Amino acid sequence: MYDKIKLPYSYDELEPYIDAETVNIHYNKHLQTYVNNLNKALDGYNEFVKGKTLDEILYNIEDIPQEIRQDIINHGGGVSNHNLYFSILSPKPAKSPKGKFLDEINKTFGSLEELKEKLTSAAIKQFGSGYGCLVKDKENRLIVMQVSNQNSPFSDKLIPILMIDVWEHAYYLKYKNLRQNYVENIWNIIDWSKVEEYYNK
Ligand SMILES: [Fe+2]
Repeated sequence: MYDKIKLPYSYDELEPYIDAETVNIHYNKHLQTYVNNLNKALDGYNEFVKGKTLDEILYNIEDIPQEIRQDIINHGGGVSNHNLYFSILSPKPAKSPKGKFLDEINKTFGSLEELKEKLTSAAIKQFGSGYGCLVKDKENRLIVMQVSNQNSPFSDKLIPILMIDVWEHAYYLKYKNLRQNYVENIWNIIDWSKVEEYYNK
């Protein structure tokens, strides 16, 4: 059985950037539905996933039997992507990474500000549902990318370390059609110490 992370803050603590009702519904309804559907899809297929983390399953998605593979991509990706998204948000975020991670950001993008601009643009321009995403490859190189639907970067052999959910359910109650305002605001609650932890893992 796979599960969602425990939310490290209360529903209203991300205000005013993300409202309490959105966090509550997003976490307890949308994410929970992905969890339920993932576990349902895996019912009877335990031998294929025994002892594996969800991220390992997505990384080796071709090992999953074809008849349930798309369900695992959709719902497993939904759980993995949301767990990452919710875990890097914080009411008391570190505003900047440091050390080796910051050096790599500066080397790749010029500066943290330039990385944020690139990622903001990727998130805003993602057509339809998906994510703006910062990943690292096997050589620890950083890449900004877009992810459609609930596809997982793990299945492209990339490690996601920061994901901005731009499905409408992530912002519509407060921001309506103004995805750009939501994405620009989310930087106020992205905890770079958490992103750095994933980079260094
Ligand atoms: Fe979402």
